[in-house]
Amino acid sequence: MKKIKIGIAGLGTVGRGVYEILQNQKDLLTLRTNCAFEVVAVASRSNKDFVDPKIKFYNNVLDLAQDENVEVVVELMGGYDLAKELIHDSLRNNKKVVTANKALLAEHGKEILSWVEKYRGSIGFEASVAGANPIVKAFKEGFVANEITEIYGILNGTCNFILTKMKNEKQDYKIALKEAQELGYAEADPRFDVEGNDTAHKIVLLSAIARSSLPNYVQTHIEGINKISIDDINLADELGYKIKLLAVYKNLGDEVQQSVYPALIKNSEKIAQIDGSYNAVLSKGSNFEYNLMIGRGAGGKPTGSAVVVDIVDIACNRNNNFLFNAEGFNLQQTNIINIKKRFGQYFIVFTFDKNNLPKGNVVEQIFANRINPQQVIFKQQNESNKDIFVGAVLTENHIEKDVVDAIDLVDRGLINNIKFIRVEQTNF
Ligand SMILES: NC(=O)c1ccc[n+]([C@@H]2O[C@H](COP(=O)([O-])OP(=O)(O)OC[C@H]3O[C@@H](n4cnc5c(N)ncnc54)[C@H](OP(=O)(O)O)[C@@H]3O)[C@@H](O)[C@H]2O)c1
Repeated sequence: MKKIKIGIAGLGTVGRGVYEILQNQKDLLTLRTNCAFEVVAVASRSNKDFVDPKIKFYNNVLDLAQDENVEVVVELMGGYDLAKELIHDSLRNNKKVVTANKALLAEHGKEILSWVEKYRGSIGFEASVAGANPIVKAFKEGFVANEITEIYGILNGTCNFILTKMKNEKQDYKIALKEAQELGYAEADPRFDVEGNDTAHKIVLLSAIARSSLPNYVQTHIEGINKISIDDINLADELGYKIKLLAVYKNLGDEVQQSVYPALIKNSEKIAQIDGSYNAVLSKGSNFEYNLMIGRGAGGKPTGSAVVVDIVDIACNRNNNFLFNAEGFNLQQTNIINIKKRFGQYFIVFTFDKNNLPKGNVVEQIFANRINPQQVIFKQQNESNKDIFVGAVLTENHIEKDVVDAIDLVDRGLINNIKFIRVEQTNF
């Protein structure tokens, strides 16, 4: 029986998940592949109790790339420089590579692709996006006969958990974040999640394989959920919308929209119904129409399960050598539109003292006919001051620049705290 000899670099949340799945599902994996999977070496700063002491332990992760007994190097440390060196040395030494490191691939994909091609190697990265959901496989294999025209992703469980708490329990952002940290959903330093960077890494990779193009992180428009207030959520709710942190990819022909921002989505849309810490990816393809994948996007076992998918593909010689879904010289350049060119609806939220506004149409007075309102809502902000109102306008479709200009021209003597949130319509 063919034996697959594995080396795992990083024994944290995901490393442990992979190790335990390879132990616990040994028989199932062999039944389904006719191969035996054996962890022959591990590496991390310190060894862990859950690892069989008979397995070779390296303190220096780069030693895994030199170990002749290791065929598959699984990089689960995270970070940039050391992970890059490990991947490079492993490919150079003819080892197959599997990683969950979305940050590295999204930001240094071009350089890593050059090594894959130079050394004729392969890198599996199923676990980098949406955890247990086999979305990389779906894009590279299941949807191979489709142009992907749109992607809407809820790709960060921490943000989805916080927004769900805020809406369902009328909690303030800071309280919901604290609870997410206490439950282990959010890191002590949550910025990477709540500011949208983690989601951006994932949509950059999905967009690269959707379009067969090089990852383009630097031009991706990124906003997080850290400025979303309970007022925003309540007003959106009154109009029948939820607010979700959405990764958005739209194929606009020669250009694409590739962005991350909190967005209003109608309650009736399926993706709006994905709550708590779950992830979801809604894709639209030229032939399959709509596909919605929902499942766990993080955690040791769900992510580990996706890592094992790539290891099994190597065992069965199904590993895909085209890192970003085409040979390097065939990969397209991604021209990402400036977000100010986005065309869509906007939800403009503001507060005002009713004594500052002359009698008449409030929206007309504030925006001087520069935006077309579809729905308008006003609420007294709190009981203690009955003159202060929070208002929101749901606009018709506009070019974003026109909305930004209209907001810039608003007389700040009339209103305070004006901001907008984009509205997305997936039609599914
Ligand atoms: N956690 C998730 O749910 C999840 C989901 C999807 C993707 N990912 C990705 O998976 C990767 C791993 O994430 P994780 O959550 O498992 O991280 P983690 O819990 O922080 O574990 C990282 C592991 O790497 C080891 N390590 C870090 N730097 C090292 C160094 N310089 N030398 C040797 N070992 C080093 C650590 O060793 P010590 O323990 O000895 O310090 C630890 O065992 C990241 O790329 C992450 O983005 C994670």
